[in-house]
Amino acid sequence: MSVGPVRDAIQRVHELPTLPSSMAQILNAANDPDSSALDLGRFIAADQALTAAMLRLVNSSYFGFHRQISSVTTAIVILGFQEVRNLVFAASTLRTFPLERGGYDMRDLWRHSLASAMACERCSRLMRSPISDGPFIAGLLHDIGKVALVMLYPAEYGRMLTQAQLIGTELAAAEAAQFGCTHADVGGLLGEQWNLPDTVVEAIRLHHAPEQSSVEPRLAHLACVGDAIAYETGYGANKESAAALPVDSILKLGLTSDHLEHVKGKIAEAGPGINELIGLARD
Ligand SMILES: [Fe+2]
Ligand SMILES: [Fe+2]
Repeated sequence: MSVGPVRDAIQRVHELPTLPSSMAQILNAANDPDSSALDLGRFIAADQALTAAMLRLVNSSYFGFHRQISSVTTAIVILGFQEVRNLVFAASTLRTFPLERGGYDMRDLWRHSLASAMACERCSRLMRSPISDGPFIAGLLHDIGKVALVMLYPAEYGRMLTQAQLIGTELAAAEAAQFGCTHADVGGLLGEQWNLPDTVVEAIRLHHAPEQSSVEPRLAHLACVGDAIAYETGYGANKESAAALPVDSILKLGLTSDHLEHVKGKIAEAGPGINELIGLARD
């Protein structure tokens, strides 16, 4: 059965959920060198549901702490600002979107996204000059446009995927034919709507064409590499194209094959933790 095109995805992005307003405060507090663990903790604690989800993540087996961490401030002292900020962002994003929509199960997509986020973060730390801000969030949200398209057109998106796989069309081409734009376009627009940093918006928009980036090319290349590592380690059933690892991006970031093997090993090990994070964040 052919699927009639619906070309109004871009016009409908404003119908999608917004991130909770507390997220902006939390992101700003984590980026402010003068703010203390107490400041960041206070912002997070103001949102009780978010606090509960964050503490469940911190106490999940992924982090493997032997004692229970029961306060946000302790979590920040032990894990650090950036890690806590990343976890809060992941918990908040996962709570913002349903895991299923119109029979379309998005768990696999979120597993792919979390694995990409962790891969981006770890790759960045191995670079000669790490990108201080954005790798985790860019990795987590690089395919948020797919979630957006599923939210807006659950039946059409599922049918389009099945057809594209049957006839071997690359995802971006199938999306453009069906919706008049790709998941990367929609994701970039949603990132703008959420007031995410320009560098992150660009990385989302260009994760399949990082060579076109100009604001922070390294972050766009990193999102591209994190995406590929997630697929290579088995996170994501619907690979978007037959392309192998993006060699140009890997070289631009100064990553070696040893680095990649190290990160792949860590991401593969994180499997049970990633599943747990998705489940816990939704309780
Ligand atoms: Fe993608
Ligand atoms: Fe992806």
